[in-house]
Amino acid sequence: MEKIALVTGSSSGIGLDTSLALARDGFYTFATMRDMSKGEKIKEIVEKENLPIEIIELDVDKEDSVKNAINCIMEKKQRIDVLVNNAGWGLWGSVEDVSVDEFKTQFETNFFSVIRMIQEVAPIMRKQNHGNIVNVSSVAGRIGFPISPAYISSKFALEGLSESLRFELIPFGINVIIIEPGVIKTNFFEPMKLAKNAETTTTYRDITAKVLSGVKMMAQMGTDPKEVANTIIQAIKEEKPLPRYIVGNDASMFLEAKKMKTDIEFENYLKKELYGE
Ligand SMILES: NC(=O)c1ccc[n+]([C@@H]2O[C@H](COP(=O)([O-])OP(=O)(O)OC[C@H]3O[C@@H](n4cnc5c(N)ncnc54)[C@H](OP(=O)(O)O)[C@@H]3O)[C@@H](O)[C@H]2O)c1
Repeated sequence: MEKIALVTGSSSGIGLDTSLALARDGFYTFATMRDMSKGEKIKEIVEKENLPIEIIELDVDKEDSVKNAINCIMEKKQRIDVLVNNAGWGLWGSVEDVSVDEFKTQFETNFFSVIRMIQEVAPIMRKQNHGNIVNVSSVAGRIGFPISPAYISSKFALEGLSESLRFELIPFGINVIIIEPGVIKTNFFEPMKLAKNAETTTTYRDITAKVLSGVKMMAQMGTDPKEVANTIIQAIKEEKPLPRYIVGNDASMFLEAKKMKTDIEFENYLKKELYGE
């Protein structure tokens, strides 16, 4: 039987490479994006390699857009085997500098949209008694780094949601898989989205500058997004996928250190790693 995959945020980075990897692996893939004018790159590859990919519009922040996309897929294919919740972005700025509205905007895409997608897709997968839901979290879903509290807390929330959901869906043959990449070389860091107050206030200027320049340097040496895509393919092919998969040496290093050290030791280790203190 033909297997159907749906990926959010396929216009670039991890979403683009995951859509291509799924299609190359034989999945009929709906590569979705909110801005269809950004589909040229994927279209070119699809035509060149004759891949089973259909590009459709989906803005995860908008309920109508989510419902329309799922209806369109169900009309055409009547099933969804893999959902990759990938769309996301990062907001920089200290807790004091990020307004509550800005926190909400960050959570809208990185957290609430995942719930929106799952509430539409889980009933379809339950009827099939089969499915894989892949949530693209981050090493930032398990470690609090400075100057990115909105992003960090949205990914921590996503981890909690995913752990909880795993128990609920396993009896229906649905796996929930968390992917935890370290720094990946994508459009994620360009441009850096800074909270409005962080652009003008001075209190956290020094630490913000230190962290942002450290992150930019790490981004240049980031892992190829294809590695994330390959990990997703490997995970969904397991008979019993693990709860989480880590991608990138940096992510493994940080998470191993967190496991081995006390909270205070780990805090001191992070300060040294991030800005040499
Ligand atoms: N890069 C990293 O170092 C890294 C590390 C860990 C985790 N991640 C996670 O990986 C995921 C993908 O990020 P990436 O690194 O591949 O960055 P990216 O190249 O910037 O891709 C992000 C994708 O999400 C899309 N998106 C954002 N808001 C959306 C919305 N409301 N509706 C639909 N699509 C939306 C973007 O679309 P537009 O082109 O329209 O903006 C883009 O396609 C994110 O969840 C991110 O948190 C990234």
